[in-house]
Amino acid sequence: VKLAFAPFAEAHLEPVLAIERASNGAPWSEASFRAEIANPHGRMLVALEGGQVVGFGGVWMVVDEAHITNLAVHPERRRRGIGRDLVVALLREAQSMGMRCATLEVRAGNVAAITLYEALGFRSIATRKRYYPDNQEDAVVMWLADLQGWTP
Ligand SMILES: CC(C)(COP(=O)(O)OP(=O)(O)OC[C@H]1O[C@@H](n2cnc3c(N)ncnc32)[C@H](O)[C@@H]1OP(=O)(O)O)[C@@H](O)C(=O)NCCC(=O)NCCS
Repeated sequence: VKLAFAPFAEAHLEPVLAIERASNGAPWSEASFRAEIANPHGRMLVALEGGQVVGFGGVWMVVDEAHITNLAVHPERRRRGIGRDLVVALLREAQSMGMRCATLEVRAGNVAAITLYEALGFRSIATRKRYYPDNQEDAVVMWLADLQGWTP
């Protein structure tokens, strides 16, 4: 089945919340997702397979930095390149909006996500100790220095 991307919209709320709750130990609220629909400084995309939402990812444009805010793929659809394709699509949007660099925070024990981000050129630059309130896990801050010169 072919993968397509669409801007996150009201119609995607239910499957996006289900994927978020299955993927994130400290899931975003419905209100947080709703706020992204109208956020002029953000972009959230859904990945669609045969019309079904199989993943989503978001980015905020903060002055000249693209902050990846959230990313998840349906647990039964992982390891097929969807997460990577979502991050590539988000970074391309940020690139076209003139963002100079990209950054994100990820749980120190999240090998899947850290490996994905490293493969796309992000590097770990700092740790925020006991950052995540649900389990006191450290956050790793990752950085992609030259977004304008970046290609996947
Ligand atoms: C992280 C996540 C979004 C990756 O989505 P995905 O669609 O499975 O990822 P992809 O298939 O695009 O993987 C791309 C690359 O990332 C790495 N990767 C992905 N999952 C991995 C895993 N479980 N272990 C090790 N490396 C992994 C691999 O290098 C992979 O390439 P390969 O399959 O050719 O080896 C998914 O695991 C997820 O939803 N996790 C829960 C939510 C989460 O952690 N979000 C990130 C918050 S910062």
